Amino acid sequence: MLSAANNELITRVGPGTAMGELFRRYWLPAVIGAELLTDGSPVRLRILGEDLLAFRNSDGVVGIIEPYCAHKLAPLYFGRNEACGLRCTYHGWKFDVNGRCVDMPNEPTESTYKDEIQLTSYPTQEWGGMIWIYMGPNEPGRKLPQLPQLEWARVNDDQRHLSRWIQRSNWCQGVEGEFDNSHVSFLHSWQDMTHFPNYLKEVIEAAQFDGAPQIEVQETDYGFITGSRRRSADPQQNHWMMAQWMMPTYSLVGNPGWPQGGRVWVPIDDYHTATFAFAYHGERPLNESEITSIEGGVAFPPRLTQGTFTLPDGYIIDIGLPDANRENSYLRDADIQAKVNFTGIYGANEQDRSVQENMPSVEGAQVGALVDRTREHLVATDLPGVTLRRRMIQAAKKLQQGEEPTLPHQGDLYHVRSPGQRVSTIDSLAELLADSAAADAKAVV
Ligand code: FES
Ligand SMILES: [Fe+2]
Repeated sequence: MLSAANNELITRVGPGTAMGELFRRYWLPAVIGAELLTDGSPVRLRILGEDLLAFRNSDGVVGIIEPYCAHKLAPLYFGRNEACGLRCTYHGWKFDVNGRCVDMPNEPTESTYKDEIQLTSYPTQEWGGMIWIYMGPNEPGRKLPQLPQLEWARVNDDQRHLSRWIQRSNWCQGVEGEFDNSHVSFLHSWQDMTHFPNYLKEVIEAAQFDGAPQIEVQETDYGFITGSRRRSADPQQNHWMMAQWMMPTYSLVGNPGWPQGGRVWVPIDDYHTATFAFAYHGERPLNESEITSIEGGVAFPPRLTQGTFTLPDGYIIDIGLPDANRENSYLRDADIQAKVNFTGIYGANEQDRSVQENMPSVEGAQVGALVDRTREHLVATDLPGVTLRRRMIQAAKKLQQGEEPTLPHQGDLYHVRSPGQRVSTIDSLAELLADSAAADAKAVV
């Protein structure tokens, strides 16, 4: 459990909040690069509680700016994206990727008023198939953070698959679930795996064999590695599943082999999260069957339709909409629950969201969106989540006291590979990580 004060601290991400300020010290994924076409339709975003508009100009450069025209606040989403700028359709003012007003056609030509007009805009970079945004302090002379050198972002474009969708909960409910390995034995278990993809079978079978894994966490400068040790069908062997958390919000969740994958949980606001999933092969392009399998919805991403989501205050964002969602009870099927899997819900993320989006909220928050952690009763297997909370709360409090985090300036620390899944006689994580077979867990790749 957390105190009510710490629960507030870890979940509130708007401008000026402790956690919001910590997130704003890092480059964060904003939108997938392929979602923005040159001179194409802008994409409406909300990130850390701020409403934004992303567009790709005629030169292919992406800008992320505030979404309303400075003149009479018309929505620039309906603007004309042409000739290196976004032109408001109301009276024709035009803005560039840096938010500068570059044309004011309803003023006399000699007017210089446009030079005084500047929309809020944030620095962006395009890298690893992703548009990254930096929303932190940016006064002259300040050193901007470095991009995290995650392996999935460093490989060639054809070696990775990216997706983005809405999770209707606070970011922390989502990211904690990544490192809550004991739930794999229940929420994600299957009685009948006849139609289950081979690459996931080993994970599910191992998790089902032992529902009470021994969990260890080894903290690192970037976050932690956690290992879950289970008994296996071979009494001489343990089965280890490992995952890495990288501050503030990245996961690497080991598969037995390539492709490897994980998620990035970027807060939309306190009650909604943009979940980015990546899957990548470290050595060759992903093939068609791997991509078909990734997009089939059995794990991550869920089955998706690209669309619009109206946030409760009326602002509309453009994002992937899960086919299985709160309104349709995640397509739960009683027959499937009786015969095929534990939940009656098809995909792993669909199963995750069925629990994470429907926890009782703290008073005054939207239902399901911001869990009341004062009511929890945690057990030993919750250690990774507890560690994550502690690290984030500590870092946010230090920043409040003026101590800037150094991790955002150490992008190379993110350049690690997942140790995947291991079968081993070893029964401590430290020993396992010292073992050469798992050395890539901590080695720079
Ligand atoms: S409101 Fe955009 S130009 Fe007038
Ligand atoms: Fe899960």
